[in-house]
Amino acid sequence: MNELEEIKNKIDIVEYVGKYVQLKQSGRNFKGLCPFHSEKTPSFMVSPEKQIWHCFGCNEGGDVISFVEKIEGLTFPEAVKELAAQAGVKLSQNFSERKEPTDKYYAINELACAYYEKALFKPEAKQALDYLKKRGLDDKTIKDFRLGFSPAQGEVVVKELTALGYTKEDLVKAGVANAKNDRVIDQFRNRLMFPITNVQGKTIGFSARVLDDTLPKYINTPETLIYHKSNILFGLDKAKEQARKQDHLVLVEGNMDMIFSYQAGVKNVAASSGTALTESQLDLIKRFTKNIKIAFDVDLAGQNATKRAIELAQDKGFNIKVIEVPEGKDPADLVKNDPDKWIKTCKKAKYVVDYIFDSTFSKYDITNILDKKRATKELLGTISRLPDPVEKEHYLQILAQRIGISLQALTDALRKAKSTTNSKTKKTEALTEKVEEKKTKPISLEEHVMSLLFVAPNYADFFFNKLKPEDFVDPRLVSFAKDLNQLSIDRGEIDLEKWLRKQSKENQEYVNVLTLRIEDEFEEINDESLGEEIFSSVLRLRHNAYEDAKKKLIGQLQEAEKSGDKETLKKTMNELQSLIEQERNI
Ligand code: CTP
Ligand code: MN
Repeated sequence: MNELEEIKNKIDIVEYVGKYVQLKQSGRNFKGLCPFHSEKTPSFMVSPEKQIWHCFGCNEGGDVISFVEKIEGLTFPEAVKELAAQAGVKLSQNFSERKEPTDKYYAINELACAYYEKALFKPEAKQALDYLKKRGLDDKTIKDFRLGFSPAQGEVVVKELTALGYTKEDLVKAGVANAKNDRVIDQFRNRLMFPITNVQGKTIGFSARVLDDTLPKYINTPETLIYHKSNILFGLDKAKEQARKQDHLVLVEGNMDMIFSYQAGVKNVAASSGTALTESQLDLIKRFTKNIKIAFDVDLAGQNATKRAIELAQDKGFNIKVIEVPEGKDPADLVKNDPDKWIKTCKKAKYVVDYIFDSTFSKYDITNILDKKRATKELLGTISRLPDPVEKEHYLQILAQRIGISLQALTDALRKAKSTTNSKTKKTEALTEKVEEKKTKPISLEEHVMSLLFVAPNYADFFFNKLKPEDFVDPRLVSFAKDLNQLSIDRGEIDLEKWLRKQSKENQEYVNVLTLRIEDEFEEINDESLGEEIFSSVLRLRHNAYEDAKKKLIGQLQEAEKSGDKETLKKTMNELQSLIEQERNI
C-alpha cells in the first residue's frame, strides 16, 4: 500500500469533513451545506464507502486530501503532510523531498518566532516584559500567544538564521529581514513581537508594537508568499474550535483586544487587525460559523468601512450582532478593568439592524425635517438589503412608527430606493449564477441510465436485454457498457468494485460522482421504484437511439431521392421500415 492510500485508510472522511461541515446522514451517504460556495439547501455529499466528497452545486469534489487542500488553502504536498501527521503515517524520504517552495518561509518564520519568544525573558527585554505585565497579560497568555521581543541591535535574526544555512535573500522573502542600501537587516527591532499565525496555527509573520509612543505603533510583516494580510484573522487558529462549538465568532479590531478577550475567557474571538473586513476573511470564518458579533471600537454606523463590512457579511449570509463597547474604550481596556464586564458586554450584543436603527436615531435629530429625511433614507437602505420579507416588514413598521409616517408612504419610498440602489447587487448575482451554471453540467439521459446500472448491477440482465452498448453515444459510456455486459455474460453477475479498481483514476472519479448523484436522488426510494425508474429510463434511451437512427436514415433517403439513386432509395426504405418494426416491439 502506498503512503497516500495508507493516509486515506486511516482518516475517516466523514469525521474529518464533519469538523468543518455539519453533516447529516442521508441514506448511505452524508449531506451538508457546501463550504466552498454559498447555498441554502445542501448539495454537498460525503460518501464513507467511496471515501470521497462531491458538491453538486459547484461541481467540486475529490478525496480527503483535496478537501484539505481546498478548505485550508494548502498545496497538495502540504495537505498530504498535514494529513500524514494526523494519521500517524510516516512519509518516505521520497515524498518529503518533493519540497514545496514555501516550506522554507514557514521554517524561517517559526525559527524567528522561537528566537523572539526566548529573547523576551533576557535582561535586555525587561522593559518589554514589564510593559506586557503592566497592561495586565498573565504568564499563560504570554506563553500561549508566544509573545516575544526583537532586540535593538538590528542584525540578530539575520545572523542567527544565516548561521543555520538560510540565505539573506530567503530571509527577506520570508519577511523577517529587509534590504536597505545593500545591507540586509532585521525587519523588526526593539519591539514587542506578536506572531501572526494562519488558521492551522503556523507562524507566517509578525505584528510588532513599539514600547512607547513613537510612530508607527505597529510594523507588520510585508506581503510574502505565505503572509497575505487580507487573508488572515489574528487569533483565528486559537478561536476556531470554540467558534464552531458556540457557533459564533467575536470580531475585534486590535490584536491586543483579541488576546485580552481570550484571556478573559471569551475564546471564540479573532481580530481584523485594524483593516476593514475582507471577503476572504469572511470566507475563513464561514468554515466555522455563520454568526459573528462585531466589537469594533468606533462609532460603527458612522464609519463607511465598517458599514461596508457589515454589508459584505450580510451578502455572504452571515448573521450579525454588534457588541457595544463604551465610547473611548476598546475591549482590551474593558478586560483589564473587569474581565466579567467583557463577558457580559459580549452577551448583550444587539442584532445588527436594531443597532443600526439605534445609532442612526442617536445621530440625527428627527424633529428636524432634513435630519428626518436623512435618517429615513439611510434606514430604508438598510431595510432594502434584508433578505427576509418578514423581517423587512417588521422593520418598516418600526421605522414608520418612530418617524411618524404611514406604512404605505414608506413602502412606496422603499420601492423607489430599491430600483436605484439594488441594481448593482443584482448584476453581481446574475454574474455568479452564470458562472455556476457553466460549472454544473446537467446529467444526460445516458449518464442517468449508466448510473442506474452502477447502483443496481443486479438489473444487468434487463439492461442488456433492452440496450446494446452501442446505444450509448459517449465513447466512455460505450466502453463501460461493453465491459459490464461482458462481465454479466461471463460471470452471471457484476462485481462493480473489482471492475472499478481496474479503471483509470479519471474514470473512477467519474463513476463515483455519477453513483453519488443517483444515490442522492434515490435516497428515499425503495427497490421497487428503482426498478421502475430503470425500466422507464432504459426505454427512453432505447427510444432516443431509434429516433437518432431514424433521423439518419431519413437524411440518407432524401439524398438518394435527390440524386435519383433508386437502389439506395429502396435499401434505405427497407431499413427504415424494419427499424420502425423493431421499435414497436421493444
Ligand atoms: N495596526 C497596524 N498598524 C498601525 C496601527 C494599527 O497594523 N500603525 C493594526 C494592528 O493590527 C492593531 C490594529 O490595527 O492591532 C488596531 O489598532 P489599535 O487599536 O491602534 O491597536 P491595539 O491593538 O488596540 O493596540 P494597543 O491597545 O496596544 O494600542
Ligand atoms: Mn488598544
